[in-house]
Amino acid sequence: MDILEAVKNRHSVRRYMNISIKEKNVELLQERINIINNKTGLKIKLVLNEPEGFSGILAHYGNFSGVNNFFVLSGPEGKDKEVGYYGEELVILSQQLGLNTCWVALTYNRKFVKKYVDEEDKLYVVISVGVGTTQGTTHKSKPLEEISNISDDCPDWFKSGVECASLAPTAINQQKFYFEFKDNGVVSRAERGPLTELDLGIAEYHFDVGSGKQIFAERLNNGRKV
Ligand SMILES: Cc1cc2nc3c(=O)[nH]c(=O)nc-3n(C[C@H](O)[C@H](O)[C@H](O)COP(=O)(O)O)c2cc1C
Repeated sequence: MDILEAVKNRHSVRRYMNISIKEKNVELLQERINIINNKTGLKIKLVLNEPEGFSGILAHYGNFSGVNNFFVLSGPEGKDKEVGYYGEELVILSQQLGLNTCWVALTYNRKFVKKYVDEEDKLYVVISVGVGTTQGTTHKSKPLEEISNISDDCPDWFKSGVECASLAPTAINQQKFYFEFKDNGVVSRAERGPLTELDLGIAEYHFDVGSGKQIFAERLNNGRKV
């Protein structure tokens, strides 16, 4: 599956089959995690064959079942945008490998997962990963005009960027991000609120995939080409 297809086909999946992730796919995910951690200072971990992370009342309430694998996204404070951007890179890579995922900020066993997080670090979120019982369903998206200043005058790269951003997962599907075509470039912003900065990072990853440019990746990397 190519990356654009993966962005279009991804949906949150909360129920998983009792099938381990293939060794080859674990290697590919781990390789990408290492690159991301080196580049960003985040401490992303892939935890395998550990049902305890989604045991307990919250996970049940959140409708999760069969979750045996998950990414733990932790690191220094103030890295919400990076967590969103690079977490979504892992989500889309997982989708390309035939796996399913769901971002999870609330409905997991936080107390248990804390043991994978260094004392000085913040536990941002986890992402469940595995072979889903279904492929999930399409979420309702805001009209493109509500999340951007899209118009016929905008170049195609901007339009495709915004279209892909509208498919980005956000906490409680809030989609509180905005992309503005300005001075032949793009600027983005998030409304204030819980997880909106992290959501913006996710949407920026989608924008980069859709536009075929690496605008937001370069900004996160202080202007260095990626
Ligand atoms: C940062 C973040 C946190 C989320 N937290 C939860 C959660 O705690 N429980 C849950 O069931 N879904 C959670 N989700 C999944 C969203 O509800 C889901 O992405 C959104 O409804 C859009 O649906 P889609 O991912 O299928 O496109 C979270 C998503 C994001 C991006």
